[in-house]
Amino acid sequence: MKLFIYHTPELTPTDTVPDCAIAVDVLRATTTMATVLAAGGEAIQVFSDLDTLIDVSAAWDASKRLRAGERGGAKVEGFDLGNSPLDCTQTLVAGRRLFISTTNGTRALQRIQNAPAVLAAAFVNRAAAVNYLLAKQPETVWIVGSGWEGTYSLEDTACAGAICHSVLQQANIPLAELAGNDEVVGAIALYEQWQDRLVELFHQASHGKRLLRLNCDDDLKYCAQVDVLDVLPIQQEPGVLKLLG
Ligand code: MLT
Repeated sequence: MKLFIYHTPELTPTDTVPDCAIAVDVLRATTTMATVLAAGGEAIQVFSDLDTLIDVSAAWDASKRLRAGERGGAKVEGFDLGNSPLDCTQTLVAGRRLFISTTNGTRALQRIQNAPAVLAAAFVNRAAAVNYLLAKQPETVWIVGSGWEGTYSLEDTACAGAICHSVLQQANIPLAELAGNDEVVGAIALYEQWQDRLVELFHQASHGKRLLRLNCDDDLKYCAQVDVLDVLPIQQEPGVLKLLG
């Protein structure tokens, strides 16, 4: 197995695909996706464009769908939800499909959607992603941070580092062999530096600061939990993610 990290969708190669690609948007899209599926959501369907989301979801029974729209960290007017995982209670989401468009996370998923296996990971379900890699042993794995409008995000790279760190500990493969690019070594170091202070790290991050300005302090605490959800969103058809199995 060789792991590669790309900090943003824009830095992700377009001329080839890996055996497995993992989108990471810790704050907050992939955390929200794992939360929805853990709470009994039927599926997640991702869109980069809000109008397309409205059109496609209109064909779905209204009692079986939820529309989530986020731009700039805030809920889009007229949508059922923004992008806070704290809103995704079992009562609300069980049995329903989440149609979601966010500023960066859903774009990251679309960028990697041609890979044969596409996963969504965050700190909350890090172990589930690692267990998948250890069980399936894909030859090449890309971990793609969502970033913010083309720029680097600390929290996504730290989470990518957490995934690599755990694979390194369990797979018995030397770092020099496991790391497909320099980003992997850097991300592991970032994670090791902050692993016991993830909320503090989020407070240093530009998108963490943006969410704090929007009074989302509790979202940051929720998203900083590690290995608390044993669920793995995996793409079943382009843009549609369900639980593995
Ligand atoms: C995104 O897709 O950029 C994020 O998930 C934004 C957010 O925190 O809602």
